[in-house]
Amino acid sequence: MHSIVIFASGRGSNAAAIIEYFKTTGKAKVALIVSNKPGAGVIGIAEQEHIPFVIIDKNTLAEVLLVEQLKEYRPSLLVLAGFLWKIPESLIQAFPGRIINIHPALLPAYGGKGMYGHNVHNAVLGAKDTESGITIHYVNEAYDDGNIILQARCAVNTGDTPDTLADRIHKLEHYYYPRAIEFLLGE
Ligand code: GAR
Repeated sequence: MHSIVIFASGRGSNAAAIIEYFKTTGKAKVALIVSNKPGAGVIGIAEQEHIPFVIIDKNTLAEVLLVEQLKEYRPSLLVLAGFLWKIPESLIQAFPGRIINIHPALLPAYGGKGMYGHNVHNAVLGAKDTESGITIHYVNEAYDDGNIILQARCAVNTGDTPDTLADRIHKLEHYYYPRAIEFLLGE
């Protein structure tokens, strides 16, 4: 069975969707959750699901110690799900081609530093775009810049608020992220 590590700092709805999905397919197991926020919703999910978690700060993230700790879990993939810090080169080199991220817009539009969550949805609404979507991509040294694995689109409706758009985007994310992970894990 594949083991995956999730990096998350927020509510954790994507983490929850991934955990649930692989409970039924049995193809992978979420072995560890890494977060930089002790009070984040995702930590409650880890506790409820009896998944080990580690809280890191910016120094730990760049340390060899974290790489060693992660390697103990032999992860096939490191999955960023609402993790907002830049991934340091040390991690990218330790897990080449095995770190992926999800972004709540159609990259390269609305990507880069500071573009997360509602900042993204506000920008899409402000530009009066008629569609938005999600991007699942490999992580490299720059924000939101790695090769794209999958994009899925949705409409932006008249009268949408950042919340209603975020809900629609989350539905796409919860459907596609687990399936993209499964695809990448292969046979
Ligand atoms: C997701 O919508 C994800 O795309 C976004 O954070 C949210 C986390 O939600 N990530 C970014 O904006 C990265 N730039 P969740 O905690 O409910 O999974």
